[in-house]
Amino acid sequence: MIQTEKYVGIVGMGSYVPEKVLNNFDLEKMVETSDEWIRTRTGICERRLADQDVKTADLAFNAAMKALEDAKMEPEEIDLIIVATITADMYTPSTACVVQAKLGAINAAAFDINSACTGFVYGITVGSQFIQSGYYKNVLVIGAEKMSTITDWTDRNTCVLFGEGAGAAVLRLIEGEEGILATNIGADGSLGNCLTVPSCHISQEEKDRRKSGNYRTIWMDGGEVFKFAIKTLTSGTLNILEKAKVKLSDLKLIIPHQANIRIIEGAAKKLGVEIGKIFTNIQKYGNMSAASIPIALDEAVREGRIIRGDLVVLVGFGGGLTWGSALIKWNK
Ligand code: ACO
Repeated sequence: MIQTEKYVGIVGMGSYVPEKVLNNFDLEKMVETSDEWIRTRTGICERRLADQDVKTADLAFNAAMKALEDAKMEPEEIDLIIVATITADMYTPSTACVVQAKLGAINAAAFDINSACTGFVYGITVGSQFIQSGYYKNVLVIGAEKMSTITDWTDRNTCVLFGEGAGAAVLRLIEGEEGILATNIGADGSLGNCLTVPSCHISQEEKDRRKSGNYRTIWMDGGEVFKFAIKTLTSGTLNILEKAKVKLSDLKLIIPHQANIRIIEGAAKKLGVEIGKIFTNIQKYGNMSAASIPIALDEAVREGRIIRGDLVVLVGFGGGLTWGSALIKWNK
């Protein structure tokens, strides 16, 4: 999708991470791992975890409140809430409906999107279509995850990787040729078996993969996802630039999904860009799935790494397997 006449921008951003920190030394006491292994193989030093009674919808609500405040808008003005998550608290109601009620966004329709770590890019792609078509004026897109609910804390291959949080953006039509200039989303369902979290039906294969007997947890073929990730971060960035006829050298910042520093460095090398042009906060938070990209974008803005007029690429990959990228000319 490329914007031509009507430009949708991000008019408010907010993010939230829980206070509780779980560092690599804490994990050393839980599974056979080491701070050295985790840092050198993933780049992660610590991650945030919410208290047990805190739900994904609570994380989403906290980020949404900040985004609305930033946009100087009231909840009643929102027409649609989209929550990207793979850790919905319930099958139904959707997390978006719970957030709608918590916010008092009484005029908003609400639904969830499940595209794992690519969820926020899917969310802004879908949200901006509703605005461009004239169907809705104001759309709230949230990426929120409580990864501990699907983590097998006995599996060192995965439990060291994830963290929790939420990021939110308010989308609206803006004046001038700024905002979300282009988006590109895709999927390859034939690779879905590389990264799974079973729900109703649990096949023998899925049971065999989880030695702990805790079947509703994440299982991942790390090596396959690693290769897919470097490929899609690179192609996702190049494709969106080609689509919008923008040069790589014109970009101020690339904000990739934060899964592994070696994936980010591998993509930077393939793209031929300095690592300084790529935003990272994986060291503090680990992989927060759908929340990673909006939290990184919010932090980049607040740290002054992005100012009005800067060209930024958001690029992600994740379960599905899915991928997506967005080119934004920052409009705030
Ligand atoms: N501590 C110590 N050793 C470990 C740990 C750990 N936490 N985890 C794995 N190892 C061991 C393995 O058992 C293996 O040992 P072995 O050789 O005796 O069998 C060894 O380390 C090497 O394992 P690899 O899997 O080859 O390690 P690798 O360097 O590939 O790193 C990792 C694994 C970090 C998972 C990497 O493959 C990766 O980041 N993959 C991508 C994950 C990702 O991006 N996911 C995103 C999607 S998530 C989503 O959508 C929700």
